[in-house]
Amino acid sequence: MHLAMIGAGYVGLVSGACFSDFGHHVVCVDKHAGKIESLKRGQIPIYEPGLTDLVTKNAKAGRLSFDVDIADAVSQADVVFIAVGTPSRRGDGFADLSFVYAAAREIASALSGFTVIVTKSTVPVGTGDAVERIIRELRPDAEFAVVSNPEFLREGAAISDFKRPDRIVIGSEDGRARQVMEEVYRPLYLNSAPVLHTSRRTAELVKYAANAFLATKITFINEIADLCEQVGANVQEVARGIGLDNRIGSKFLHAGPGFGGSCFPKDTLALIKTAQDFGVPFRILEAVAAVNDQRKRGMARRIIQACGGSIHGKTIAVLGLTFKPNTDDIRDAPSLALIQALQDAGACVRAYDPEGMPNAKAVLEDVVYADSAYDCVTGAHAAVIVTEWDAFRAIDLERVRAQMAAPVLVDLRNVYRADDVRKHGFVYVDVGRSAAGPLGAAGDVERAA
Ligand SMILES: NC(=O)c1ccc[n+]([C@@H]2O[C@H](COP(=O)([O-])OP(=O)(O)OC[C@H]3O[C@@H](n4cnc5c(N)ncnc54)[C@H](O)[C@@H]3O)[C@@H](O)[C@H]2O)c1
Repeated sequence: MHLAMIGAGYVGLVSGACFSDFGHHVVCVDKHAGKIESLKRGQIPIYEPGLTDLVTKNAKAGRLSFDVDIADAVSQADVVFIAVGTPSRRGDGFADLSFVYAAAREIASALSGFTVIVTKSTVPVGTGDAVERIIRELRPDAEFAVVSNPEFLREGAAISDFKRPDRIVIGSEDGRARQVMEEVYRPLYLNSAPVLHTSRRTAELVKYAANAFLATKITFINEIADLCEQVGANVQEVARGIGLDNRIGSKFLHAGPGFGGSCFPKDTLALIKTAQDFGVPFRILEAVAAVNDQRKRGMARRIIQACGGSIHGKTIAVLGLTFKPNTDDIRDAPSLALIQALQDAGACVRAYDPEGMPNAKAVLEDVVYADSAYDCVTGAHAAVIVTEWDAFRAIDLERVRAQMAAPVLVDLRNVYRADDVRKHGFVYVDVGRSAAGPLGAAGDVERAA
């Protein structure tokens, strides 16, 4: 089949490359000319494990190409995917649909023959109706159907998620469009990936409900972690104790600095807004968003306390900037709010991230970027693990200690075992595992002093 993918970002590029690997002919279109030029040269503009090889292989085979011009790609396509961004709208948190609507207008002008138009972007309930209206008004003659097919891939594991999805959701009331979508995903049917056919509005809501639920799960365990610190319990053991219950499941029960990333923060806000607009306020999710917002910045207090009550004029080494490992994406990463809070408290921030520094440099000011984890901690009064990159899991603690101005390690991802770190002479603070909690940390600081 011939597919056009509008938007060659994390979702569009991965989906386009995977569809071409299934044997479809795919043109990825992006209005960002620099991105398309890089892709044509074989340079992948994002960091995603395995993507360079997949793109190169399929481009060489002639199944995957790149263009800035939408017209050719759409006129030849059986299926056009919209995979443009849907960031939070300034002011009210609703999804900014301007990129989706702009894409719909551009698609309309180029349609030729029966075409299925698929929203892969995460869009609020009713967006498919709006896209259909826009296209119908511009092209009353066109033969088309609009389908919702939300994407569930995770950055860092995007290719395997796309090729081995937990499920494929196809939202359409149009029988012909459903058949076309089955053909598009046929290679995955053969892998027995469960396919869920729903109405378009249901499919749109499935995506938000999934992200809202996962965000709630993370926030739940984060609040349990806070309680653990006060009562002298261990959140990892609590998480295991509840996660072994099949009704709960063990995933997304890792306490940490709060959820971030390109999806959860904006999608929870958008769902809250949708629910308000329909007169059914989503109280749990409102609490989740508020708790998480405070938590990201609140992690700075933990660092200040570990440093004995003040970080004014001190140097803090931040290890990890991306919202999770194996991506270069720093959108809404906990590191951003945390670094701002550290700077507000008078600290100088040094930072290192294996992949995220080019993106971070565009948004974070007054940060000294280091060449490695060891360079980052040099002269620092505290080192903070914010993202659990593998590179930070086995650092040489003796070397780190020797290079730091003070031996303080704040492990916001619970990567290390307290005993292992403390035996190297560190003040060590984690999330929800220290039996004596924050009081214990303060005691450690006193002992170290
Ligand atoms: N990133 C993820 O992990 C993920 C996972 C599932 C779903 N989603 C959803 O997928 C959508 C895309 O997310 P992303 O992270 O890939 O975004 P992104 O910002 O990485 O990519 C979007 C791309 O669309 C391009 N674009 C915008 N308008 C265009 C137009 N009219 N024509 C051509 N190109 C255009 C932009 O230049 C950009 O390259 C969002 O709705 C997001 O919520 C993202």
